[in-house]
Amino acid sequence: MTGPAIEVVASPAAGAALAAERIVRALRAAVEARGRADWATSGGSTPVGIYQRLSVPPLVDEMPWAGVHVWWGDDRYVPRDHPASNVKAFDDILLAASADEEGTAGTHGGRPIPLENVHPFPMGVAIGEDRGATWAASTLADELRAAPLDRVDGWPVFDLVIVGVGADGHLLSVFPGSAAIESTELALAIPAPTHIEPHLERVTLNPAVLGVARAVIVAAFGADKAPVLASVLGPEKDPRRWPAQLAAREGATWILDEASVARLDR
Ligand code: 6PG
Repeated sequence: MTGPAIEVVASPAAGAALAAERIVRALRAAVEARGRADWATSGGSTPVGIYQRLSVPPLVDEMPWAGVHVWWGDDRYVPRDHPASNVKAFDDILLAASADEEGTAGTHGGRPIPLENVHPFPMGVAIGEDRGATWAASTLADELRAAPLDRVDGWPVFDLVIVGVGADGHLLSVFPGSAAIESTELALAIPAPTHIEPHLERVTLNPAVLGVARAVIVAAFGADKAPVLASVLGPEKDPRRWPAQLAAREGATWILDEASVARLDR
């Protein structure tokens, strides 16, 4: 068995550029093969630089936006316009109406991507109607089950899942020791972590989707990630302790920068 491909670039900016190129490549291939591409995107701060690359030429013109459907691997239980929302960066950068004024974006009301192709967890309704995070997770799971993705062992096959790595070795909102690892639910609520910020209740897709996705990209940049990457990519395999190891599979690409791999045994 071989492991993931590891690509080390000089800086976070170079990492964002490479990740954005790979996203376009994977989603174009999916649209060419199947007429649509389903992309589960990440939360945290890492996607910001990637979305910026995707929002301007040349990539904004190369992405087959009309066929691209965006989902979230995880989110925080806050409204979509809250600073801690995992959807906000996407909205601000890729749904921003200013894209039209700049003359850089496509034809969907000034946005590169049609609104109906964007599928966040329904936090606005969940919070507004006091339905709770479990409802938000199961409602999104129903929407995903109704969407025309292929299935493997009952799990939806995303064309691309992109994830970051937390300082404790988490990915998605799957923290060390998380019940999500053995869960059979497609999406589930996660209690607010106390060991890592933000201390907010979450929802996450089941990490099993990583095992069946057509492509997985892990993006982690900066010296802060060096200690955890040394463990996650080190010799000891224990995904309950370091859930990010669930993305260290053959066919996955880990895009890392020099600072983040400083403690790796290379
Ligand atoms: C979240 C995430 C999480 C994130 C990592 C890395 O909602 O917190 O989806 O898994 O990707 O914590 O976060 P950064 O990109 O901010 O380093």
